[in-house]
Amino acid sequence: MDISLRPLRREDAHAIVAAEDDATVRFLSGGRSTVQGTEEYVDRLHREASEGRSKRAFGIWADGTCVGTVDYDPQVTDGLEPGDVNIAYGVAPWIRGRGVAVRAVELVCGIIAERGVGRRVAIRASAENPASRRVAEKAGFVFSHEMRSATDVDETGQPEMFRVFVLRL
Ligand SMILES: CC(C)(COP(=O)(O)OP(=O)(O)OC[C@H]1O[C@@H](n2cnc3c(N)ncnc32)[C@H](O)[C@@H]1OP(=O)(O)O)[C@@H](O)C(=O)NCCC(=O)NCCS
Repeated sequence: MDISLRPLRREDAHAIVAAEDDATVRFLSGGRSTVQGTEEYVDRLHREASEGRSKRAFGIWADGTCVGTVDYDPQVTDGLEPGDVNIAYGVAPWIRGRGVAVRAVELVCGIIAERGVGRRVAIRASAENPASRRVAEKAGFVFSHEMRSATDVDETGQPEMFRVFVLRL
């Protein structure tokens, strides 16, 4: 399977919405996505980038089809150290378990290194998300620490417990 990343575009909104399930909502988007909302998200990313924000999002493409997203954001600080670049990802349910997320993480780490965005990449995986922890481990990240989030909450409104995995570039 050929996996590649392309900067996220408004035209990818339908695919992103189609790729969402309960797990994506719980661990990535935080709410049900719509095509219009996703287009607005892409517009907002462009606008904020032009204003100096460093977050960048990519579509994950598998054999020519957009099957998910991965983003990096050096301005996430919750539970991280200065210089850390947070990454987050989601892959469509029908193509999970085939190494797509691990490859997407490797590719985005390559982009972060090439662009000199930060010294260390971090994945904050919910304690309730073994699949994401496994992705981190398979991509070569090492467990750093567990922390109670000051920004994210779980389904019951309690602070999310994150396990932080890091990879030095
Ligand atoms: C997490 C996610 C991106 C993984 O995508 P994926 O393409 O299936 O990932 P990969 O195939 O590269 O690797 C998944 C690994 O996790 C394992 N895994 C999946 N579900 C698991 C579970 N419940 N418990 C333990 N391991 C699990 C898979 O078996 C695989 O490991 P293996 O190759 O050793 O068997 C996908 O499940 C997803 O989109 N979840 C919802 C959004 C999310 O959780 N994002 C993370 C936010 S940081």
